Amino acid sequence: MSAEPKPAYSPGLAGVIAGETQICWVDPNAGLTYRGYDIHEVASKASFEEVAYLLLNGELPDVKQLAEFTRQIAAERELPAQVVKMLRLLPRDSHPMDMLRTGVSMLSMFDKELSDNSHAANIRKSIRLIARVSTLITDGWRILHGDEPLPERPDLTQAGNFFYKLKGEVPPAWKIRMLDTIFILYADHEFNASTFAARVTASTLAGMYAAVTSACAALKGPLHGGANEESMKMLEEIKMPDHAEAWLKKKLEAKEKVMGFGHRVYKKGDSRVPVMREIGRDLGKRTGKEEWVPICEKLEKVMEREKHLCANVDLYAAPVFWMLGFAPELNTPLFAASRVAGWCAHVTEQHDNNRLIRPRSLYTGPEMRPYPGSASDGAQNRQ
Ligand SMILES: CC(C)(COP(=O)(O)OP(=O)(O)OC[C@H]1O[C@@H](n2cnc3c(N)ncnc32)[C@H](O)[C@@H]1OP(=O)(O)O)[C@@H](O)C(=O)NCCC(=O)NCCS
Repeated sequence: MSAEPKPAYSPGLAGVIAGETQICWVDPNAGLTYRGYDIHEVASKASFEEVAYLLLNGELPDVKQLAEFTRQIAAERELPAQVVKMLRLLPRDSHPMDMLRTGVSMLSMFDKELSDNSHAANIRKSIRLIARVSTLITDGWRILHGDEPLPERPDLTQAGNFFYKLKGEVPPAWKIRMLDTIFILYADHEFNASTFAARVTASTLAGMYAAVTSACAALKGPLHGGANEESMKMLEEIKMPDHAEAWLKKKLEAKEKVMGFGHRVYKKGDSRVPVMREIGRDLGKRTGKEEWVPICEKLEKVMEREKHLCANVDLYAAPVFWMLGFAPELNTPLFAASRVAGWCAHVTEQHDNNRLIRPRSLYTGPEMRPYPGSASDGAQNRQ
């Protein structure tokens, strides 16, 4: 065994700088910027398409550029017929995130630019992926529920088209604007687990689709994107604000993880929570479901007192999606419909200045020892 000194090691890569990025900055003191713009300003003034353009291209679009980018996304939404056929073959109890991951992987083989990792091709593929990830979710959901996919509506934005493709109706403008804002909040978050998975895959010079497939796989887990589906199950269990404290104390006593709380980077609160909480309050009034936000607020208070842990965006996203009329299984796919913009921007950035991402591990297995002979050779001395 080598006598090299033990290198520094940070479990879970906590605090480790694993690369440079110009796309997004997560400030541990509750701040978030996209290419230098504060998330709160962007969320209140921009559209998702504008933010996706910003993440991909580095600067905000002018009016003409935004119109062209929006048109390009709308024109790329339709899935190849074979992909729709594949969605019909999947078991009816499939999770929409598994359908999405499989769909993205299959889409790769229909893209003529699959193996072109140049900047220009990556931007074109990003536009196709931003468009089609949404379609995979909405068409997949309809197929799972025995409904036919609906034709695209190129006159609608990503948020408007998502509602229409899922339910066959265009909701009021305020509802579309809310989803648009949520898409902005979820669009990027620097080296989160799914984006890091995408960058690791891209760093082998595997293409954009392979990287986004990896990202979809990583996003589903409940410690990452899957938390917004789990949070809704938890809120449904709690049912009313008066039950929240006792429920939470029981979970903490049992040393269970409570979904929608904690964050690797934010220690003074998640910068997206105030915006999502406000949307939740507004929706509560509009829909008459005013109990959800107070349950979350009660949980926040008790969690702060008991564990000094802050809520993350997924706590409030769960009731917000519910009040917007989405089933909890769609919560993580909705996150993906937005985060795909960030994934694509990061893959493009990785390819533009690539170095293979290959860290080391700290070996903690047995010391070097003699091989006792092969069991398949009938070695007698092997127990
Ligand atoms: C996000 C998360 C994975 C970050 O994990 P992390 O940085 O590795 O933090 P740790 O798991 O080491 O947590 C540190 C301490 O806080 C506790 N903790 C962290 N999040 C917790 C939660 N959601 N519920 C209960 N306790 C939690 C841990 O048990 C640990 O306590 P200990 O020191 O007594 O063992 C973690 O907070 C979590 O699992 N949250 C729930 C899932 C979630 O909401 N994910 C979405 C993130 S945006």
